[in-house]
Amino acid sequence: MEPAPKIQELELEGKKSLSRVVVGGSLRNTGEYLPEYQVIILTDENVYDLYAPDFPAFPVIVIKPGESVKTLATVEFIYTELVKCGADRSTFLLGIGGGVICDIAGFVASTFMRGIEFGFVSTTLLSQVDASVGGKNGVNLGNFKNLIGVFNQPSFVLCDYELFKTLPEREYISGLAEVIKYGLIREASLLELFASKTEDIRQRKEEVVHDLVWQSVNIKKEVVEKDEFEGGLRRILNFGHTFGHAIEKVHGLLHGEAVAYGMLVALYISGREANLDPVESERAKSLILASGLLRKIKPDKNQIIDVMKKDKKKSGEKIHFILIDTIGHAVEWETTPEKLENFFSDWLKQIDF
Ligand SMILES: NC(=O)c1ccc[n+]([C@@H]2O[C@H](COP(=O)([O-])OP(=O)(O)OC[C@H]3O[C@@H](n4cnc5c(N)ncnc54)[C@H](O)[C@@H]3O)[C@@H](O)[C@H]2O)c1
Repeated sequence: MEPAPKIQELELEGKKSLSRVVVGGSLRNTGEYLPEYQVIILTDENVYDLYAPDFPAFPVIVIKPGESVKTLATVEFIYTELVKCGADRSTFLLGIGGGVICDIAGFVASTFMRGIEFGFVSTTLLSQVDASVGGKNGVNLGNFKNLIGVFNQPSFVLCDYELFKTLPEREYISGLAEVIKYGLIREASLLELFASKTEDIRQRKEEVVHDLVWQSVNIKKEVVEKDEFEGGLRRILNFGHTFGHAIEKVHGLLHGEAVAYGMLVALYISGREANLDPVESERAKSLILASGLLRKIKPDKNQIIDVMKKDKKKSGEKIHFILIDTIGHAVEWETTPEKLENFFSDWLKQIDF
């Protein structure tokens, strides 16, 4: 007989509400976490095709998969579908999917009729370790990633890693980027787990996957509870994301793949601006190179800089860029788009992969 899956729970204390995160829970048991009143499900076509029979028995709104649907047009479509389903202020919106579904579902629920309750069954590694936890919800506007959004905690997040059995390899590996990020900015031991269990992680062995998800959500909880609305500390979670977002847009990479490139740039700058020891920098770089995250693109300097600069205009000329001064410890560095451009050019000249 298969051993019963391990389940661990934590509560993330938001300023307005608590968010329950269940690691090792099962999609088939989602009913246990749902309220008595009306529930409507939001999912994407891939997840629906694979798992609809395991969904709780409620109306389902299905949207196309992928980053390109993270738009206000999709949000409007979902509002209309909710109205058709007879949704009112007591309706609970359940997002079942990866980071895209969680980001959209959270935003729709937070704005429909001035806010309805919501929760997630998180179905990708990336969304379990990062996107579904912490209450950032939103959509893109043109080239601007996550420009439109709200902070609002889901009532619960169910992380069912059994669903990874159908997750394409590339998507699974993409999720590893955010785990590496936590190791670099906050918890060096996560990287040791990476190094010692590389093969088990590759094979998606349940025990090690459970540990990766559990440790990641605990780090996210700790950071978010200290700074839910990203006035300071929470910015460390953006390590690798300034260039990552631009590279994601320009080269059409998956989120985690692009963040991996962004982390390499941030490591390079950390050596120059935060005294990161070259040995540590090399160790971090090797881990990223060995993770399978890099797609062998030739970064398009001009386009990436252009998107990065436009993206950063939204917060004025000063950029809060995250560096590490040692593995496991992040520091904030205030800079300008121009300085970042120079560092990016230098980094491009020395890459050897
Ligand atoms: N809100 C946050 O704090 C936060 C943090 C990090 C990332 N994000 C966002 O998360 C998004 C990326 O999330 P993602 O990587 O989960 O992408 P995704 O939601 O697009 O999912 C990836 C792909 O896997 C498919 N899929 C999902 N679950 C599956 C399963 N179990 N089996 C087979 N296929 C499955 C989806 O249909 C999709 O095609 C980005 O938009 C990013 O900006 C948000």
